[in-house]
Amino acid sequence: MKIGIMVHSQTGNTLSVAEKIQERLAKEGHSTELKKIIPFKESDPRPEDVRFQAKPPVDGYEALIFAAPVWGFSLSAVMRAYLDDMELASRPVVLGFVTHAFPLPWMGGTRAIRQMEGLCQAKGLRILGTGIINWSRKDREKQILDLTEQFVKALAKEGNGQ
Ligand SMILES: Cc1cc2nc3c(=O)[nH]c(=O)nc-3n(C[C@H](O)[C@H](O)[C@H](O)COP(=O)(O)O)c2cc1C
Repeated sequence: MKIGIMVHSQTGNTLSVAEKIQERLAKEGHSTELKKIIPFKESDPRPEDVRFQAKPPVDGYEALIFAAPVWGFSLSAVMRAYLDDMELASRPVVLGFVTHAFPLPWMGGTRAIRQMEGLCQAKGLRILGTGIINWSRKDREKQILDLTEQFVKALAKEGNGQ
């Protein structure tokens, strides 16, 4: 499948996970493009204040992966603004994940994923899977591997029309 991986990452954590996922999906034979979403100011807490330096288009992909950090117990304002603004000519399937610092998913990750799902569903997009990486936990690498395999399987199933 042609897959666009759209990443907001202020300090590189989310980007590093997205790169690992991209590498693995490429090995599976998918055609992948990783695009960075870059705001002028990282510090804007409200989506309506976010202005983009780089706002990669979402068109032309069969699947999209959205990736962003948790900010203030929410999906980053940058990703919220991006998802709200995105214009779609087709209806790719969606996977998404967030990274956050605190050790438990309810400390931001769960809410952030719910926000991501809501914004995608509002555009009529079907979500194949989501995940949360708890950055400060010792098993971080395992979480990343598990998430990657989850995404590989979901895309394979979709590709087989199941
Ligand atoms: C403004 C701001 C707010 C944050 N709020 C939270 C939070 O509510 N919960 C949490 O677990 N981590 C929080 N973090 C930590 C980030 O989610 C975490 O470090 C993430 O992995 C950063 O991803 P990045 O390197 O891709 O930017 C916050 C970080 C920033 C900069």
